[in-house]
Amino acid sequence: MTAAAIPTLSSRGVKMPAVGFGTSQLGDCAEIVASALKVGYRHIDTAWKYGSEQGVGDGIKRSGVPRKDIFLVTKVSHEYLKEDAFAKSVEESLERLQTDYVDLLLVHWPAIDGTPLAETMGALAKARREGKTRHVGVANFNIALTEEAMKLCPEPLSVLQAEYHPYLDQTKLLAYCRKVGLLFMAYCPLGRGRLFNDPVLAEIAQAKGKTLAQVALRWLVQQGNVAPIPRSSNPRHMAESLEVFDFTLTEDEMKRIHELARPDGRIADPKGRAPKWD
Ligand SMILES: NC(=O)c1ccc[n+]([C@@H]2O[C@H](COP(=O)([O-])OP(=O)(O)OC[C@H]3O[C@@H](n4cnc5c(N)ncnc54)[C@H](OP(=O)(O)O)[C@@H]3O)[C@@H](O)[C@H]2O)c1
Repeated sequence: MTAAAIPTLSSRGVKMPAVGFGTSQLGDCAEIVASALKVGYRHIDTAWKYGSEQGVGDGIKRSGVPRKDIFLVTKVSHEYLKEDAFAKSVEESLERLQTDYVDLLLVHWPAIDGTPLAETMGALAKARREGKTRHVGVANFNIALTEEAMKLCPEPLSVLQAEYHPYLDQTKLLAYCRKVGLLFMAYCPLGRGRLFNDPVLAEIAQAKGKTLAQVALRWLVQQGNVAPIPRSSNPRHMAESLEVFDFTLTEDEMKRIHELARPDGRIADPKGRAPKWD
């Protein structure tokens, strides 16, 4: 799919490609990121914590795709949520990414050291006012924390990033995001591969003449305000994951996939760091 053909999602001032490219666990990923951009991705997700920012910056340079054409996302880790540490983390991210600004800056996880949320939201808003990010948001916040963040942040939050795939029910969080207009960026959209033997997804994939991964991603994008960010180091998979806008799941197929959610479906649930999930 050409980059221009990827639909965009917009809300609260932000406009972003409806599918992004994840870069956790990829390490020095310059070649992979350059391939993803070549295949058509224009939305790249990284984080200070992933150790992939340098590779993302190098990959963007190597690809020849103009920086302004890419929706670039990074995150500040939970250890750096106090004002000074936050600003330093953003500077380091920009240096590694070899850019003056990102398109979206997220708080990666809520604080666990008692840092007041107001202080972190102040630091996030300051990064935006200083032009270091075009938009701001949060990741791994529950509804109560997101609500508080929206009240405390002097700049409008646009995006919530959270785990979402067919094995995890996110009905409540998604309904909340819809109500307040936050776009939902879905991480681990392929359940880090755990979905790949699922018989229901396999059956629907066969009926549609699509791959199982494409069906899982279609289920996400068809929900309207959800943008999945699959990670891959395989150019064939990268390309396949963008080809999810040329077919539609029926209401019954959507429902059957919703019913796959399991109580133990959550993957990213670090002890002592995760909030009380909704
Ligand atoms: N905010 C947070 O706390 C947080 C937490 C976790 C993840 N994330 C973000 O979300 C991104 C995605 O999540 P994830 O990396 O954990 O897992 P994921 O995207 O759900 O799954 C990645 C796995 O799926 C395979 N894959 C990808 N596309 C495929 C396709 N079309 N067909 C078949 N297999 C395919 C990949 O293998 P191949 O390489 O062989 O294709 C890889 O093993 C991360 O990279 C990161 O950017 C954010």
